[in-house]
Amino acid sequence: MQEQLIFKDRTKLSPRYIPKELPHRQKQIDLLKRIFSSIKNDPDKYPLTILQIIGPTGIGKTSTLIKFANLLQEELADNKISSKIVYINLKLLGGNKYAIYKYILGSIAPELPAQGLSAEEMLRQMIDYLDKTSSYALIILDEIDYLIKISKDIGIIYDLTRLTEFYPTKRCNVKGVIFIARSTEFYEKLDAAELSSLGRVAIEFPTYTINQVSDIIMQRSEEAFIEKVIGPDIIDWIARILISPSVNGDIRYALDLLTYSGNLAENEGTGKILIEQVKKVHQQIFNGITDEDIKELSKGEIVSLLAIIRGIRLKQREYTELKEIEMQAIEIAENNNIKNMDIYDSLDELSAKKIITVQSLKKIFLGSASIDDLEKILVKRLDAIKS
Ligand SMILES: Nc1ncnc2c1ncn2[C@@H]1O[C@H](COP(=O)(O)OP(=O)(O)OP(=O)(O)O)[C@@H](O)[C@H]1O
Ligand SMILES: [Mg+2]
Repeated sequence: MQEQLIFKDRTKLSPRYIPKELPHRQKQIDLLKRIFSSIKNDPDKYPLTILQIIGPTGIGKTSTLIKFANLLQEELADNKISSKIVYINLKLLGGNKYAIYKYILGSIAPELPAQGLSAEEMLRQMIDYLDKTSSYALIILDEIDYLIKISKDIGIIYDLTRLTEFYPTKRCNVKGVIFIARSTEFYEKLDAAELSSLGRVAIEFPTYTINQVSDIIMQRSEEAFIEKVIGPDIIDWIARILISPSVNGDIRYALDLLTYSGNLAENEGTGKILIEQVKKVHQQIFNGITDEDIKELSKGEIVSLLAIIRGIRLKQREYTELKEIEMQAIEIAENNNIKNMDIYDSLDELSAKKIITVQSLKKIFLGSASIDDLEKILVKRLDAIKS
């Protein structure tokens, strides 16, 4: 039997791969280019510029910034200006100021030993090194909201937004510090001085529209799959799922769907990806609730899920709100003689298990495809454990 090939290059679906073109992010790249464009004319006159990039998960913030930084570096090189780009994912590096500054110093001046230096001395060494070597730096700090959430007092926002004051006798050749976050909620944890030097104006990255999502997944599919493996019906279907409020435009989810569906098509030898295969994968990986999950649900969790299902049905929307869930849960508990149930605990548990998504108190989503089927199973399960 001839092997039915599906993938041309499956690494092109990896969330870490940055494609040559980023469709529908050119506007953001152009804006960033404009902001930093005059560095090349006279870098010493260009002031330290602090920027924030804000937008929900999986909509291309990291990819766009890395792409932009590389373009900027090339442009500066064309103008005989040497530059260093430092990109740090603060979530991966953890909440330690020392480790962060060590990483920055190491990226800018790899030949300098960081051993035995204090955090502040490392920043000073970095400024010194850039000055001596007449090179200029852009520092990108990704997932700053995560860092502030886990360790708010480490002061890196203060230090890095005031690098010019940090070592006033030297030229500060760091020209840009860019912070990336999912939302502005982390502002609440900052003090007045940090907020003021950070500035409250952010560049917001919007979520993609359905047509934009289609373009993006089509482009990634063309790179990853052999021709004709994936049809327009599948692109449309995935795009529709992607813009639903519970996925909220997260391109990573589309890449997962494509990868797993491709694997399935390969295993089943279908020669192309079938819509049933995509639907099956979606059911399995999307917040979905598996048989295993259902077996392990506590009484409180079952009641909460039933309450959510009823709330969703009542409002005829994809989500429901906490108040509605409370009311429904009380009624269900009463009808089933269930006492002492903490629905807040149950909702936390369900959210931790990714069975539900709590976007806000007014928007609680259930990831399951069919609420009718799920309801039937849950009612049975509740009857079984009640008796
Ligand atoms: N316009 C686009 N064109 C092609 N691929 C894209 C585009 N936008 C996002 N992607 C892809 O989606 C994935 C997620 O993007 P990225 O990591 O940049 O998101 P993010 O906004 O930084 O998310 P998070 O907040 O979770 O870090 C990456 O694989 C990226 O290549
Ligand atoms: Mg990111």
